[in-house]
Amino acid sequence: MSGEHCVILGTIAPPDEGFLSAMLLAHTLKKEGADKVTALLPYLAYSRQDKDKLGESLGTAWIGALLKGSGIDRVLTVDVHSGRDKELFPIPLASLSTAILFAEVIQKHRLADATIVAPDNGAIGRCEAVKRAAGVPIGVTPYFEKERTAKGIIHHGSVGTVGARVVIVDDMIDTGGTLVAACEKLRAAGVQEIYILVTHGLFTGSSWLQLWSLGVRRIFCTDTVPLRSDIDAANVTVVSVVSLIRDSLSWPDKETGRMTARGK
Ligand code: R5P
Repeated sequence: MSGEHCVILGTIAPPDEGFLSAMLLAHTLKKEGADKVTALLPYLAYSRQDKDKLGESLGTAWIGALLKGSGIDRVLTVDVHSGRDKELFPIPLASLSTAILFAEVIQKHRLADATIVAPDNGAIGRCEAVKRAAGVPIGVTPYFEKERTAKGIIHHGSVGTVGARVVIVDDMIDTGGTLVAACEKLRAAGVQEIYILVTHGLFTGSSWLQLWSLGVRRIFCTDTVPLRSDIDAANVTVVSVVSLIRDSLSWPDKETGRMTARGK
């Protein structure tokens, strides 16, 4: 591999073990003479730790520094949490959008007439990208003003005008707190059917199970993270990111003609 550009496919689940494996492999590749190492990390753990708050780690920056220190030149991920992550990373961080995959879900499951809602203002851009990819009018995306408090998530105010069917788009479901709070409000606003499209399905704990009693008919998530084995596939549909990643890796480098990785 001397002089080669190598791509590592790292599974970041569980995150700490996955990070260490990717870093050790990158270090080994560089030791053996690799020219460049791109780490393909479909789910970039710690990417939510992108705010510099007193007493809290700025995890994104630190993870970026560790990856760089291990010899990784570039990271390719799927649906990174925010643009801030890219600013905090000391090496180029490219992110593949799942909008096209979710647009296919919307077409296949005849959800084009549903209102696409953002559970917080950080998800508005994702919603617009999905609408654009699905070819539905962009309009104004209804969203919630979200606040994380010691007692949990609070969504302030009303979401605006929504129909009886809603699709919520977000980057991840972790505990489900964000989505439960959003669905409670949507139900109170008269929404009958809710579909959830999330890129990373972490499904931590059990709070998210409340979603089934809040009008949620189905959750679609991708396979960037292995799905918890106890989750009923009848309610949670996994959408593969393989085509997204395959397309991003089959692009020959303009200068060398070798396989490389692209992404925004
Ligand atoms: C927040 O900024 C993210 O986009 C997600 O909404 C959030 O991290 C999901 O976490 P949870 O499911 O625990 O509310």
